[in-house]
Amino acid sequence: MSIYILGIESSCDDTSAAVIKDRKILANFIANQNVHKDFGGVVPELASRAHQQNIIPVIDKALRTANISKKQLHAVAFTNGPGLLGSLLVGASFAKAFSLSLGIPLIEVNHMHAHILALFIEDEHHPKHPTFPFLCLTVSGGHTQIMLVRDYFDMEVIGQTIDDAAGEAFDKAAKIMGLPYPGGPLIDKFAREGNPNAFSFPHPNIPGLDFSFSGVKTSILYFLRDELAKDPDFIEKHKADICASIQHTIVEILLRKVKKAVQDTSIKQVAIAGGVSANAGLRNALLSQEEKAGWQVYIPKFEYCTDNAAMIAVTGYFKYLQEAFAGQEVTPFTRFNSRKD
Ligand code: KG4
Ligand code: ZN
Repeated sequence: MSIYILGIESSCDDTSAAVIKDRKILANFIANQNVHKDFGGVVPELASRAHQQNIIPVIDKALRTANISKKQLHAVAFTNGPGLLGSLLVGASFAKAFSLSLGIPLIEVNHMHAHILALFIEDEHHPKHPTFPFLCLTVSGGHTQIMLVRDYFDMEVIGQTIDDAAGEAFDKAAKIMGLPYPGGPLIDKFAREGNPNAFSFPHPNIPGLDFSFSGVKTSILYFLRDELAKDPDFIEKHKADICASIQHTIVEILLRKVKKAVQDTSIKQVAIAGGVSANAGLRNALLSQEEKAGWQVYIPKFEYCTDNAAMIAVTGYFKYLQEAFAGQEVTPFTRFNSRKD
């Protein structure tokens, strides 16, 4: 018998709903919020209001596209954290009411685990899945972690950022350059035409498997301030080279630690997940390690890298198989370390 699950994601500024049949996605819709563009970042109050407006149309669209009725669903899975509290509450409240009214189980999902489990979505055009154990570099707007993944729900953080996340580093660098939020995809786009060695920024010296990006951000700020004082058109004239150099620096910082993690654990199956895994520079750097160092590299399908409900639905599926259900009293959590599962 096939299992149908509705997945709901509302942890930050994307409202998303997906329907999964076992591990196959039948529908996955995302309503992006344009209200934040002028503010240089996500405004939490605006985000929760937009979720409230988007959630029903997005779920309705997902169910219609999947061509199933509510009554066919076996469970509803929702992101319970980490994320913005007001945003999470919209998805959580909807999921609770939905499960109660249909009499189906409620499944809470950790957003960061879901980014990783997106690697297990079944797709005929993307047939490669890791086996356990593997390492996963999870890089998003709020987190940067190296996870040792022993099983679907047995994951250990073996390295993490001590300040900014990698996505934040991209976004802040872009903001310094005057690019709109979120700047990560724009840096990626302009970097394609640029020379990654045109400018160099210092690498942090952090022990073990931890990361730091605040120094890079400051050095980009000072570098551009000094160049703009000499030539006010410096950014416009060198946009591609600046973007390529910033991207090269961030990717190198990430890759060095992943190489160390491979060395420390002797695990050569390496995956990436999270919004920044959409970055072409990072994807290519990792893939080049297949030939250079004999790694097996796994990258989620492009559309499942940035926030989406398909990853919530597939995580819900694995939890459903374990009957790991939540009660109506469950409450969202904002920080990764504040809850284990
Ligand atoms: O996982 P995600 O969609 O949301 C969070 O859970 O935070 O990640 C969003 C982050 C943003 O910082 C965005 O700029 C970054 O991922 N991002 C990228 C690219 N696509 C998204 N950064 C660099 N290159 C990209 N192509
Ligand atoms: Zn995310």
